[in-house]
Amino acid sequence: MADQHDVNQENRGGPRGLARNTANYGDRDFALYLRRSFAKSMGYSQAMLDRPVVGIVDTGSDYNNCHRTVPSLIEAVKRGVLAAGGLPLAFPTVSLCEPSLHPCSMHYRNLAALDTEAMLTAQPMDAAVLIGGCDKTVPAQLMAAASADIPAVQLVTGPMLATPFQGERLSACTDCRRYWAQYRAGNVSQERIGEIEGRLATTAGTCGVMGTASTMACLAEALGMIPLGNGSIPAVHADRLRAAEDAGALAVKLISEPVRPSEIITPASVENALRVLLALGGSTNALIHLTAIAGRRGIKVSLERLNHLSDTTPVLVDLKPTGEGYMEDFHAAGGMPALLWELRDSLDLGCRDVTGATLDQRLKQPPFVDRRYIRAREQPVSPVGGLVALFGSVAPRGAIVKRSAATPALFETEARAVVFDGLEDLARRIDDPVLDVSAQDILVLKNAGPLTPAGMPEAGYLPIPAKLARAGVKDMVRMSDCRMSGTAFGTIVLHIAPEAAAGGPLGLVQSGDRIRMSVKERRLDLLVDPSEIEKRRAAWAPLPRPARGWDRIVAEQVLQADEGCDLAVLRQNG
Ligand code: FES
Repeated sequence: MADQHDVNQENRGGPRGLARNTANYGDRDFALYLRRSFAKSMGYSQAMLDRPVVGIVDTGSDYNNCHRTVPSLIEAVKRGVLAAGGLPLAFPTVSLCEPSLHPCSMHYRNLAALDTEAMLTAQPMDAAVLIGGCDKTVPAQLMAAASADIPAVQLVTGPMLATPFQGERLSACTDCRRYWAQYRAGNVSQERIGEIEGRLATTAGTCGVMGTASTMACLAEALGMIPLGNGSIPAVHADRLRAAEDAGALAVKLISEPVRPSEIITPASVENALRVLLALGGSTNALIHLTAIAGRRGIKVSLERLNHLSDTTPVLVDLKPTGEGYMEDFHAAGGMPALLWELRDSLDLGCRDVTGATLDQRLKQPPFVDRRYIRAREQPVSPVGGLVALFGSVAPRGAIVKRSAATPALFETEARAVVFDGLEDLARRIDDPVLDVSAQDILVLKNAGPLTPAGMPEAGYLPIPAKLARAGVKDMVRMSDCRMSGTAFGTIVLHIAPEAAAGGPLGLVQSGDRIRMSVKERRLDLLVDPSEIEKRRAAWAPLPRPARGWDRIVAEQVLQADEGCDLAVLRQNG
């Protein structure tokens, strides 16, 4: 009878659906009885409650513009799950919107990962669809799935469309930064910057350039957690809803034919993803996130290896912030299938994706490609990869520079440091007319790393001092222990590890010191006598720890940038 629950079904092949993960009262049958009666209060038939369960991670939030379409995506996922014979159950988790959080969204990525992992493992479900999009949500969900290791499909909200405006196209947020820099330089009026504010993000979806959200969607495809071709579909395209419906159906298929994250996120797929990151000219932030995701499976991402891959991987994608196009152009140009086809000789084609297919099976035929946005290997945007790591006495454990978005003339620089002790100091002095600074100096920001209350914000794109900007200076060497937006550009050294607040040498740099950067030699050195450095080290004191709460947990647990800034307690041991 449809209304008679078969209490023995869970004994045939183990608990499934609602019978999984019962509350522990010391009487499992009672716990299940109680769960069923409460589930019935929601009006489900017994036949529905007997189905395998697909959990759907709901990150819709009135604070998260990039996730505006999540309700319609959930509806489409549910269609797919129901049609395939499953019971879809959506549940909320922390939702992180890049511009909506103080001190910054990165401070809460691990909270979202912890929340998601806990709900994936605590609630009854046989598989999951993870709906994310904005910068930190997809990494958090992939970290969670890697640790929970239940079959899961990543679904992204998709990029926004660029807006035609007075003869050009605008989209968040490379154009935001371009116009803001011109405004600071006095070349754009107050009225015009206000007008442009309403034209930068005019549709639902994530930032429309190859920023962090887009890079992470592409890396999720490269890893195999998103079915190939689905990561770059624009947020408002009908195909995005069809991809959601497919994700629901695929999650049900994964219940009987499981391909777990541990089978997808492997050393080989992580290296494929690193290659893709370099070929995209992708976001520096994605390196931290990929390191954290891999770390959940005990896989180390080495910056030395990154340098090797960077020397042998060309930038092939011509999108902002390094090139010209927008994400809708990338998708129409062939998207990830076209890019992976171009890179196939340097990829491990044995990697399986969430559909169970290998990359080799996926890349049988040359796909359509528009060479305006996805170049051939013989005609790359740049013959070498977008990112390189630098090492030296300023950064013993490494630092990152996005050379594809930098000024080559500044790659080999020895100059005087102009140092800011933290974000408040930066805000107070950067535009001070009496600031002793020239275009040849190196701007240094310290005490903005993951251990600080600032939480490693995207402040590494230090503004050009107003007096220099007005004089026409467009780029300077800037370095810090924090991050920059994936949509930003400039000769900017980031993620210096160890950070100043962890006692790293960056914390000992003072204004007037000389620093030498060599992208060619992969070096970043402080040219100060070691005895002077030791004197400064003896006088150095750590920041006081936050008194309580999440801030305290972060201060006690967060790892450095070269380890993905995960919490130590959340990494896989061994
Ligand atoms: Fe959400 Fe850019 S602010 S993706």
